[in-house]
Amino acid sequence: MSHSTTPSGTPSDPAPNPHASAEEVQAAYGDPKLANVLYHDWEAGTYDEKWSISYDERCISYATDVFEAVAGREGQPYPTAMELGSGTGFFLLNLMQGGVIKKGSVTDLSPGMVEVALRNAERLGLDVDGRVADAERIPYDDNSFDLVVGHAVLHHIPDVEAALREVLRVLKPGGRFVFAGEPTKIGDFYARKLGQLTWWLTTNLMKLPMLNDWRRPQAELDESSRAAALEAVVDLHTFDPSELERMSSSAGAVDVKAVTDEFSAALAGWPIRTFEAAVPDEKLTLRWRLFAYKLWLRLSAVDKKLLSKVLPRELFYNVMVTGTKPPAPVEL
Ligand SMILES: C[S@@+](CC[C@H](N)C(=O)[O-])C[C@H]1O[C@@H](n2cnc3c(N)ncnc32)[C@H](O)[C@@H]1O
Repeated sequence: MSHSTTPSGTPSDPAPNPHASAEEVQAAYGDPKLANVLYHDWEAGTYDEKWSISYDERCISYATDVFEAVAGREGQPYPTAMELGSGTGFFLLNLMQGGVIKKGSVTDLSPGMVEVALRNAERLGLDVDGRVADAERIPYDDNSFDLVVGHAVLHHIPDVEAALREVLRVLKPGGRFVFAGEPTKIGDFYARKLGQLTWWLTTNLMKLPMLNDWRRPQAELDESSRAAALEAVVDLHTFDPSELERMSSSAGAVDVKAVTDEFSAALAGWPIRTFEAAVPDEKLTLRWRLFAYKLWLRLSAVDKKLLSKVLPRELFYNVMVTGTKPPAPVEL
C-alpha cells in the first residue's frame, strides 16, 4: 500500500469543518458550494452508515455492475483513475476491489469526505491518494488519468458542462469517463413526492398513543427536517438522458452514451428509505432490513430484465453516462 498524501489530503488542502456555525449555515442557503462543503463535512463521519455503504461483495458487485452497464468491460483494469465528488469512496474503492481500476485518486469539495475516503482506502489496503477539489477546477495536470468516475455528484455541481470540460482535460487521449447514480427529471419527481408522502404519513401515524414508542424524539425529527432543507440547496439538477449526452458531446467527448436503471425498485425503495429514517433505529430488525434489501434486489432484476425493454428510458430513476476523450492526432 502506498499513500502519497497525508490522511486528510495534501498539506495545503483545507481542514474538515464538521460543526458549522449558525452564520455559516445561513450563508450556505445562498451559496450551493458552501452548502455542499458544510453539509458533506457534517455528514462524512456517519455517511456510510446512513446510506448502507460497505466495502464487501454487496457493494463491490453493485459498483461494478453499474459501471459495466454503461461502459462494458473493455479497457479493464484501468491503470489510473480519479473520482470526482468521491464522498467516502463508495464507487472508486469498490471498483478497485472489483478489479476495474489499479491505482486511484479520490477528490471531493468536502475535506471531511476526502479524509474518510483515504481512511477507508488505507483500511482496505488500496493504492489511493486524495485531494480536496472542486469539479469545475480540477487540480491535476492535462492528460493525467485513464479513467475519471463519479457517483451521485453531477447534480450537485453548478456548472456541469464546465466540470465535463475539466474531466476531458485531465483524461489521457482515448481515456474514458463514467458518471452514475444521477437522478432523472421524472424519477426525481416521483421519488420526492413518494418520500414527502411517506414522511408525512409515518410521522403523523406515530403520534397515535398506541404507536408512541415508534416515534423518534421531536429534536431528532427537527434535525432531519433541517438537513432536508439544506439538502434542497445542494441538489441543483436533475437530468434527461439525452440532455446529459448532449452536454457531454458539447464538452468535447466522443462515443457518448447514457443508460438508465431502477423504476419499480425506486418506487418501492424511496418510501422504504423514508420510513426507515422516520422511525427509531432499534425498531428496524434484521428481518426487516433483509426483507427490504431482497425486495430491492428482486425489483431491480425486474427493471433490468423486463421493464427496461418496454418502458421509455426517461421514466427510470437513475441515469449514468459515459464518453471518451478523442484520441491524439497522429503526427506525420
Ligand atoms: C451525494 S454525495 C455522493 C458521494 C459518493 N460519490 C457516493 O456515491 O457515495 C456527493 C458528493 O459530491 C461532493 N461535491 C459536491 N459538489 C462538488 C463539487 N463542485 N466538486 C467536487 N465535489 C463536489 C460532495 O461534497 C459529496 O461528497
